[in-house]
Amino acid sequence: MDNHKTKWSGRFNEPVSELVERYTASVGFDYHLAEYDIQGSLAHARMLAAQHIISQEDFTAIEKGLSQIREEIRNGRFEWSLQLEDVHLNIEKRLTAIVGDAGKRLHTGRSRNDQVATDIRLYLRAAIDEITSLIQSLQKALIDLAENHTETVMPGFTHLQVAQPVSFAHHLMAYFEMLKRDVERMHDCRKRVNQSPLGAAALAGTSYPINREMVAQDLAFDGICENSLDAVSDRDFAIEFCACASLIMTHLSRLSEELILWMSPSVGFITLADRFCTGSSIMPQKKNPDVPELVRGKTGRINGHLVALLTLMKAQPLAYNKDNQEDKEPLFDTVDTLTDTLRIYADMMTGVQVNAEKMQRAALQGFSTATDLADYLVKKGVPFRDAHEIVARSVQYAEQKGCDLADLELNELQQFSEYIDNDIFSVLTLKGSLESRNHLGGTAPQQVRDAIARARNGLSKNP
Ligand code: ARG
Repeated sequence: MDNHKTKWSGRFNEPVSELVERYTASVGFDYHLAEYDIQGSLAHARMLAAQHIISQEDFTAIEKGLSQIREEIRNGRFEWSLQLEDVHLNIEKRLTAIVGDAGKRLHTGRSRNDQVATDIRLYLRAAIDEITSLIQSLQKALIDLAENHTETVMPGFTHLQVAQPVSFAHHLMAYFEMLKRDVERMHDCRKRVNQSPLGAAALAGTSYPINREMVAQDLAFDGICENSLDAVSDRDFAIEFCACASLIMTHLSRLSEELILWMSPSVGFITLADRFCTGSSIMPQKKNPDVPELVRGKTGRINGHLVALLTLMKAQPLAYNKDNQEDKEPLFDTVDTLTDTLRIYADMMTGVQVNAEKMQRAALQGFSTATDLADYLVKKGVPFRDAHEIVARSVQYAEQKGCDLADLELNELQQFSEYIDNDIFSVLTLKGSLESRNHLGGTAPQQVRDAIARARNGLSKNP
């Protein structure tokens, strides 16, 4: 970058110090907005020409200059200057160097305040579209894995204590549902992101006969920000996006926590493909689930960005304040981290190897079918509270004997209730337990197969 110092304008008696220049500049990160900045400028200039605010020749020159600049940026030949503070002034200065006075006319009826708000909205809109499609790829990977495991039994937990048997597919489909809501949230957030601030100018609008609708249409916005002060100052749409991103990361962090746990040799439910793990520099036997651990760790960073933006906004008087320049780094990092995470996750889920036998063995421990025994008694006329107590005593007995409920003899079980009969043994099996939960949302294999079919259908309708 070129660091030559000059005064801001004729109104200033001295240039800023080098430190202040560095402190106030944003070009080091907002150059990421360049494509959107050019897109916005083209729409603005086209409108200025259509409204006869600038001449057609000026527009043609601006268009030519901006496409040249776009090429320079794409090819890495554009020279960014810290002295020119931000992406907007860098591009405008270069435009003027290429096309002369026409370049100086581009900023008519516009301010960097509505310009930057436009750029961020265009950037976020594209990010949301990419994120939505990445979530859907992950959802597809989850369904593909679930499809093979509707009969694979694992212990379902509450308080991380074995509770009731569930299928591995049912467990995976819980995450599918979370991600489905995440997609809905992103779609909803997009509506508020996709509104055009252009025309608000610095804060009060402009005295030129502009056509805001034309610009909005040109840039494929759904509508127009209807108050100029609000248009340039609020970043609630970015905060909302970060909140949605935090929830996605939170869901993935929970799944990561489970993958880590399931991969621990003492649990051993799954293994992850080697390409998602690393070894230890000292313990040769180790295979560490680094990727899920990092997802869990990066969730903290994304939550931090949300809090940063909320704090950035909370005490700002209307309208634009330079504070808002600080919105970009957290926002960019949120988008980059989230897209990387989603991409890596979809790939990681396709490489999950399931150890069905270990899952089954774990489900057999911890009396996971105790509730099934209670339900059996209730169906025979025993009030639920009494059934609960009968089962509690049976469990205590089996525990002392060191076996599962299903391993007890009929006469042993009958000590606790005369209602228990030979048909109890089909109830106490994992398969029987699973199959009995046969209603919408239950873990019965047929229900989970239906849920998977609905999920697939929903995904294909919503590409
Ligand atoms: N770099 C600035 C930002 O990111 C652009 C807007 C500057 N506006 C101003 N009045 N200084 O917010």
